[in-house]
Amino acid sequence: MLVLKKKIAALLESAVAEKFGQGLLTKEEIMGMLEYPPDKEMGDLALPCFKLSKTLRRSPMDIAKTLGEALVCDELSSVDVVAGYLNLKLNANVFAARVLREIAEKGNKYGSSGEGKGKTVVLDYSSPNVAKPFHIGHLGTTVIGHSLKLMHEFAGYNCVGINYLGDWGTQFGKLIVAYKKWGSKEKVEEGGVDELVALYVKINNAIKDEEDESVKGLSEEEAARARHSELADLSRAEFAKLEQGDEENLALWRWFVSVSLVEYEKTYKQLGITFDSYKGESFYTDKMPAQVEKLREMGLLEIDDGASIVNLDKWGMPVCLILKRDGSTLYPTRDIAAAVYRKGEYNFDKAIYVTSAAQSLHFAQWFKVVELMGYDWYDKLVHVPYGTVSINGAKLATRTGNVILLKDLFAEAISRVYDIAKEKNPNEEDCRRIAEQVGVGAIVFHYLSNNRMRDINFVMEDALSFDGNTGPYAQYTYARTCSVLEKIKESDSFDLSGIELCSEEHELVKALAVFPEKIANALSDYEPSVITRYILDLCAAFNRFYHDCKIASCEESSRRAFRVALTAATKDVLGTALHLICIATPEKI
Ligand code: ARG
Repeated sequence: MLVLKKKIAALLESAVAEKFGQGLLTKEEIMGMLEYPPDKEMGDLALPCFKLSKTLRRSPMDIAKTLGEALVCDELSSVDVVAGYLNLKLNANVFAARVLREIAEKGNKYGSSGEGKGKTVVLDYSSPNVAKPFHIGHLGTTVIGHSLKLMHEFAGYNCVGINYLGDWGTQFGKLIVAYKKWGSKEKVEEGGVDELVALYVKINNAIKDEEDESVKGLSEEEAARARHSELADLSRAEFAKLEQGDEENLALWRWFVSVSLVEYEKTYKQLGITFDSYKGESFYTDKMPAQVEKLREMGLLEIDDGASIVNLDKWGMPVCLILKRDGSTLYPTRDIAAAVYRKGEYNFDKAIYVTSAAQSLHFAQWFKVVELMGYDWYDKLVHVPYGTVSINGAKLATRTGNVILLKDLFAEAISRVYDIAKEKNPNEEDCRRIAEQVGVGAIVFHYLSNNRMRDINFVMEDALSFDGNTGPYAQYTYARTCSVLEKIKESDSFDLSGIELCSEEHELVKALAVFPEKIANALSDYEPSVITRYILDLCAAFNRFYHDCKIASCEESSRRAFRVALTAATKDVLGTALHLICIATPEKI
């Protein structure tokens, strides 16, 4: 549709110039005004002329009439003027032939604008905190992040996916103490990250108990000073040793990180996600001092109650903490150092950070600090936030109590699909593969159906339904295109002369034609849900066509060839679209 919109906009631009005067409207402006009418009876495209009234100094009706008379295009079958609208109907045959030709020629590049050629985008996403649970709150950063990476790659960008692991910080001091006190090599080897999380939860509880004990019977004021825990002191000491390079602690730390990674990798594998870099927070330890020094030299640091901060009053934000009172660094300090490093390493044209909206202030603050430091690439930093996820209905108990782990959510979906698949398909291997592709796909699809900023309530039954607007439904539709095509031996080229397309055919062509526009919107808004919703539109159009039109058994040979080509184009576009939102495309379900 983009191609056609451009063509029509160019024609209208010259018509405006001729009838109303030069330079009044550009084709880009006209492009932006072309709409899809809500009711297809009205036409396939429309130009509302109300806004033009002011610029062109005529009534909307007059403008529509004048432009309608001047507009001649072989891809249009009719141009109607209705109440200030210019309603355009496509010449279905010419349009269908062009769209299908374009899809066949471009193959899996159809829909790519190529805008990213020669440009690099760095994407920071997923980034769980080692030894803390990898829970459903991470679903957003993981799948939105990866989908944005795939979309940018599709548009021709060179992409670097970074998993900025939370692999440094005082939690490792606690974990070392807990491990030495209660843990064992065997238990960690057996239990993996769950065992680490259990140790972490245990020491946090123990610290809290000690602290409560230490203030028993004291007044509030006394308690504030007296509150302490030996285990907490011990943990700080172990972390200090780790920071100083103590071999024993370093070895434990490395082991904890690798045990956790093994576990994350399982989830990433289910999602088909890989990263180009795993440089986590620890990597930046020795890169922070230079940035802190620069801040100090530039006079940007202020001392506030012993801590070093950057005052952001002027920009209506609270202070950005750079160094704690004891001189230790903080989350923003590390992010600043990491951004500087990444600019040097990748020379990015854009750096995207995907995190929950709870971190929006953090990003706004340190982006501002980067700007104040004089880095001219500050405006290439983009924070992409998303809303919260809660779970309803499904009983997904976890060993860590109140949080729901991502792997448990996937396991639950996989096992439910497995039970259904097993009833219909005796082959064990097939069932397992399909259950994983459909189960995981269902969750991702359900999650990505909503605008990312919306807070969502996850209902497993809704996600897994085959009748609703779900992942299984979309995958099933894809498999349906495959099974239609599988039965076709030869694929003829088609000729539409003398054929009148039915509305199911025409609507499906239109659905295929808007794909490039949808991709462009999804990219500019950092919004994978645009693609998810597009997939549903395309599936609906295909299924209507499938139910109402004979494909392989169509008696007219040229119409049959056209319908086969239409099915093949749907398979390709649907496959590309599903891939872009991290969903597998099994050919059989
Ligand atoms: N590890 C952090 C968390 O789980 C997310 C890191 C996001 N990326 C960043 N560059 N700050 O909250």
